[in-house]
Order: sequence, then C-alpha cells, then structure tokens
Amino acid sequence: MKAVILAGGTGTRLMPLTKLLNKHLLPVGRLPMICYSINSLQKAGITDILLITSRASAGMFTSFLGSGVEYGVSLTYRIQEEAGGIAQALELARSYVGEDAKFIVLLGDNLFEESLAPHLEAFMLQPEGAMVLLKQVPDPERYGVPVFDEDGRIIHIDEKPKQPLTDSCVTGIYMFDGEVFHFIAAQTPSLRGELEITDVNNVYASMGKLAHRYITGWWTDAGTFQSLLEASIKFSEDDGP
Ligand code: G1P
Repeated sequence: MKAVILAGGTGTRLMPLTKLLNKHLLPVGRLPMICYSINSLQKAGITDILLITSRASAGMFTSFLGSGVEYGVSLTYRIQEEAGGIAQALELARSYVGEDAKFIVLLGDNLFEESLAPHLEAFMLQPEGAMVLLKQVPDPERYGVPVFDEDGRIIHIDEKPKQPLTDSCVTGIYMFDGEVFHFIAAQTPSLRGELEITDVNNVYASMGKLAHRYITGWWTDAGTFQSLLEASIKFSEDDGP
C-alpha cells in the first residue's frame, strides 16, 4: 500500500514559530515532526510515501529527507501551490496512488504511539469505501466529530461543532479507496474557501461506506503550542512509534 503525508498549510496557530519554518519541521523531542509520520509508516511496512508540501517549504524537506533512504522509505514529493484545503492537497496524489488502489493519508501534525499495522490490516479486509481512525478526547469541539446511527456506524462528521454530540474526534489518519478522487473532483469549496477533508468523508458516510476504528494509545494533533509541548515531552526520550 502507498501512503500520502500532508505537510503543507500555514501553521497559523503556531505563529511566529511557523513564520520561517513549516510546522512539520518544528522539533518534537529529538526529531523534526515529519519524522514521526515517516517512522510510523515504515514500521507498519509502508515504504512508498508521497509527501505534499508548499513551494516555500519543499526545498527544506528535500534537503532534510532526501530520497528517504536513511529512513528506509522511498519518498516522492508534490507541491501544493496555494493553501486550498486538505482535500485539495490530496487531489495532487491522484497520479501517484492511481485510481484503483487503496491508500493511507496522514496529516503530518498528527502524532501517535500505537502501530498502524492492525488498522491497515482491517482496512485491507474492507471490500470498499474509506476508514477513519477516531480518538476519545476531552475537547472534541476542536476537531471533526462523528455522529453515529444506532448500529454504531458513522452517518455524518460535524467539523468543529460548537456542541459536539460525542467525545470522539476524527484524527488525521484516513484510509481511502480510489473513489476518493472522484469525490474530490465533484467538491466545491467550503465557506472558508477550502476543499474540506470532512466533506469528502461525509460523501462516504452518506453512502454507508465510512468505517472507523479507535486509537487507544496516546495521540495528539500538534498544531498548538500546548499540544506541541506535550508531544515533545512524550517523545523526548525516544524516537516515537
Ligand atoms: C483537520 C480536520 C479535522 C480533524 C483534524 C485532526 O482539522 O479538518 O476534521 O479532526 O484535522 O487533526 P485541522 O487540524 O486542519 O483544523
């Protein structure tokens, strides 16, 4: 299976740290943030990785990571010319992934300790559709929040709802089949002018094709000062997952 790591964005919540440096190159423990996604994938047996980032940051990523040889992976790069949302960035993976293959997407600021392997195995057994990984959190209003039917299936995801209906959030770990590229092509920008990953997942949900599993270990979206600090402390003594 191939993987896509999204490492663009402007990192507004981490200004001024992100004024010069892409968020995913900021230090977390002893390593730049991007290394944790790469290590997680490599340990789960995924070595073909597409890294999508901005024009301004691409040179730093290639200088630091090169071909990926030191990490035991093979890296390919694509540039997102303008920040237009997670789904817009994902569209750039179309020719890399192909339209028939299943693949995994990681938002590069999502840090976690558990293995991706069992989740990938479960997704491979799923005949079609997508899968999201969920996590129980004290502050679901910061994230996409799933709404379940009585059988426990996700019927909808509310993006950053003021009054979340559950204490679960959708993490930035997504698994898709090739149909995702058709859904992105049919998407229109949200009110903030972006192609939203939650809208894509909601197409799958409305068709009854959005599976989920829970992350039980430690997880954070290291996009704020507090969570970045937490991640640094968590990974201060080792190289993470
Ligand atoms: C994005 C997604 C959100 C998800 C989060 C996980 O939010 O839109 O649904 O819960 O990633 O990290 P963002 O961090 O871009 O605001």
